[in-house]
Amino acid sequence: AETVDIPTPPGLPFLGNIRSIDSDYPLGSMLSLAEQYGEVFRLRYPGRSAVVVSTRALVNETCDEKRFRKTINTAIKQIRNGVHDGLFTAVMGEENWGIAHRILMPAFGPLSIRGMFDEMHDIASQLALKWARSGPDAPIMVTDDFTRLTLDTLALCSMGYRFNSYYSQQMHPFIQAMGDFLTEAGSRGRRVPLPEFFYRAKDEKFAADIEILRSTARGVLEARRAGTEDRKDLLAAMLNGRDSKTGKKMTDESIMDNLITFLIAGHETTSGLLSFSFYQLLKHPDAYQNAQREVDEVIGKGAITVEHLSRLPYLNGVLRETLRVNSPIPMFAVEAFEDTLLAGKYPVQKGETIINLLAKSHADPLVYGDDANEFRPERMLDEPFNQLNKEFPNAWKPFGNGMRGCIGRPFAWQEALLVMAMLLQNFNFVLDPGYVFGVKQTLTIKPKDMHMRAILRDGLT
Ligand code: HEM
Repeated sequence: AETVDIPTPPGLPFLGNIRSIDSDYPLGSMLSLAEQYGEVFRLRYPGRSAVVVSTRALVNETCDEKRFRKTINTAIKQIRNGVHDGLFTAVMGEENWGIAHRILMPAFGPLSIRGMFDEMHDIASQLALKWARSGPDAPIMVTDDFTRLTLDTLALCSMGYRFNSYYSQQMHPFIQAMGDFLTEAGSRGRRVPLPEFFYRAKDEKFAADIEILRSTARGVLEARRAGTEDRKDLLAAMLNGRDSKTGKKMTDESIMDNLITFLIAGHETTSGLLSFSFYQLLKHPDAYQNAQREVDEVIGKGAITVEHLSRLPYLNGVLRETLRVNSPIPMFAVEAFEDTLLAGKYPVQKGETIINLLAKSHADPLVYGDDANEFRPERMLDEPFNQLNKEFPNAWKPFGNGMRGCIGRPFAWQEALLVMAMLLQNFNFVLDPGYVFGVKQTLTIKPKDMHMRAILRDGLT
């Protein structure tokens, strides 16, 4: 077959494409390179390279789990320092991944997530109460408050632990340590090669933060084991579960790895989803009104129950469309098992990183048409959504792929639906008139410095 070389943007001798990517906003650079180079391009760095694909067809190809698997790239490798072979950071083939995956799949299933509704409702009410108290004139830091919500919800529902983020000015030491740990994990991947002592202070802080994460997790685990509390949460599933395949139980180390992993993988993503959803609703008054009308018709003024959540098709459309247009994880990386040709013509070597650029493939005009860049929840209502997945497999991948796809999806979905419904039920929102949209990128992306005001509609329900 005729092969075609994958284009590479011009770079520096030895350092390659280091300068092609803005380290504060790598996604922005990748999007402009995709504009310039098209469906596929390659970035070269000292000792490694990455192929970036950005059409639905190419993403679809790399979602074939017979040819490709999740790759553990630089950022994820650094996070392994803290959570080892936990679910998110495990290398394919590591035994603990399989044990944890099989034990945890039912615990993350729809039935057990329904059982978490009351605790999710508890935290969501704390958020609504805070916004009601701060009054209609207070500019709300949207993403910060959603991050408090998602962290508190995860810790409560997964292990019965309360961070009480809405009751303290200062962040809980665990949350502080996790934030610093993730930031440093990110910047370690971009270190300039200097002698080790230049980085000694940073390395010590990194190790100390990991120690805070692990000792907190160990404390929760040991308290549960010593106590009489009878909770049916993720921690209980991990302590009591036995793997159907190997007959093994999870080790304490593996349980701690995964407790921390849930917080890492679940908080920024869900907070980003909620923040972008409100941004999009505030920018699209028709969609906003449709969403609020649905909440009024289905739920009315009373308390929200878990049954209500299965009757909110428009809100589902809003969440799916937000995840398409502003995917909080804007890319995920795979590698080929063997040397291969992408699209039957682009040679890629076994093991080379291939980045699926969702921020681009989610707007593929061959799938979504001329208005691919517009926010239109109607195209994501149940029926068109099912049609889309039939006609264009893997056109919508915000939760990743296959067996390494997101285990927390039903958790995130229930939480996001509940919070959105409760907030629309109780408040009218106004975006800060001076707000200029921007994106802040860490492990995930979120709207930068977004402020809005929340005006109570009647009393709080
Ligand atoms: C994996 C997205 C919420 C736990 C993933 C992946 C994506 C993703 C794209 C695959 C990453 C990769 O291929 O490298 C999201 C989004 C969320 C969300 C968009 C919210 C809207 C959650 C929540 C939890 C969670 C709430 C925990 C309760 C995990 C775990 C994995 C994962 C443990 C690794 C699964 C494995 O490899 O076995 N998520 N996630 N996520 N997510 Fe989520």
